[in-house]
Amino acid sequence: MDSLVDTPTPRIAGTTAPALVVRSILAGIGGYLPERVVTNAELAERVDTSDAWIVERTGIRQRHIAGLHETCAFMAAMAARAALADAGAEPSDVDAIIVATATPDQAFPSTAVRVQAELGCKGFGFDLSAACSGFIYALSVADSLIRSGAARGVLVIGAEVYSRILDWTDRTTCVLFGDGAGAVFLRAGEGSGAASDRGVLSTHLHAQGTMGDMLYVDGAVGRHDRPGHVIMNGREVFRHAVTLLSETVAEALAANGLTQADIDWLVPHQANLRIIDGVGRKLGLPPERVVVTVDRHANTSAASIPLALAAAHEEGRFAPGQLVLMEALGGGLTWGSALVRL
Ligand code: UT7
Repeated sequence: MDSLVDTPTPRIAGTTAPALVVRSILAGIGGYLPERVVTNAELAERVDTSDAWIVERTGIRQRHIAGLHETCAFMAAMAARAALADAGAEPSDVDAIIVATATPDQAFPSTAVRVQAELGCKGFGFDLSAACSGFIYALSVADSLIRSGAARGVLVIGAEVYSRILDWTDRTTCVLFGDGAGAVFLRAGEGSGAASDRGVLSTHLHAQGTMGDMLYVDGAVGRHDRPGHVIMNGREVFRHAVTLLSETVAEALAANGLTQADIDWLVPHQANLRIIDGVGRKLGLPPERVVVTVDRHANTSAASIPLALAAAHEEGRFAPGQLVLMEALGGGLTWGSALVRL
């Protein structure tokens, strides 16, 4: 069933008018990319492909591939540390850790609690599985935790090592993905409830399980005979992507009484430059307002949006008060959006 999570904003009780609402402020952003870079030319030595095909069809020029020490938890912790440092926050400020991943190192304990131990945080933590939409889902859950009062500081991390679940002989998938981790630190703040507030303004989540066989892994961590490989009907996923993403973007704007002209940055899931351009064009956004990292990072699944946020932040492109629209679609199918004012 198509599901929708809209996020009405609770009022803080006991305040004098105008009542304030709890907002999840994006306080810090960080990323980690594996040291090893693999170019298209290098892949063309392993499978029947070419730099020209990969660039023309996807926009990808290179990807980072994790070394043995660069586990999912290691990269997640590195990104989390960077996000906390960016926020000027301490591990003691973290009440909860959510890691969106489809490639954890172990079935359990979760990547989140490994990160908790590494950083020396308290509170609680768990992993979340929504494939390439994982970061949007995790951001939505984190925002709900903050707005309900269950947590005041939440690390939201996307971390993936798809290189471990790729069939390196399958040219239709192995050229598309990369490894890495990105993180944001959300801190409870206050707002008036208006779209001019800083923080997460809304998240919208969707899933359509009947389309599960379009993009999946044919195994699991629990199956030692078959950890599984990514299988994708790329053409079908592509066909749905621009339509569903454009719909969810329109939904996010309408829910906040905003228009396309209000968006300062589109930070999309980085799967394919043609999909990114398609959504950007439908929004009427000039290319310089769309953050693109797919050329450098390839598709890092749940890590792609926070890594793109980290890249744009590091390049000094973001300014306080700007409106950032994020959207993603992935296996499930799952898809969704988040509107955040910096
Ligand atoms: O992140 C989760 C969501 N995922 C996505 O959003 C991915 C969506 N899909 C896509 O990005 C694109 O569909 C792909 C990049 C995966 C494929 O691009 P396409 O333009 O849809 O190509 P295609 O699958 O229609 O294949 C065209 C041709 C085929 O050959 P024939 O049948 O026309 O002879 C493929 O076998 O390209 C061939 N091909 C390749 N050729 C060289 C497929 N992969 C490769 C390759 N190198 N790596």
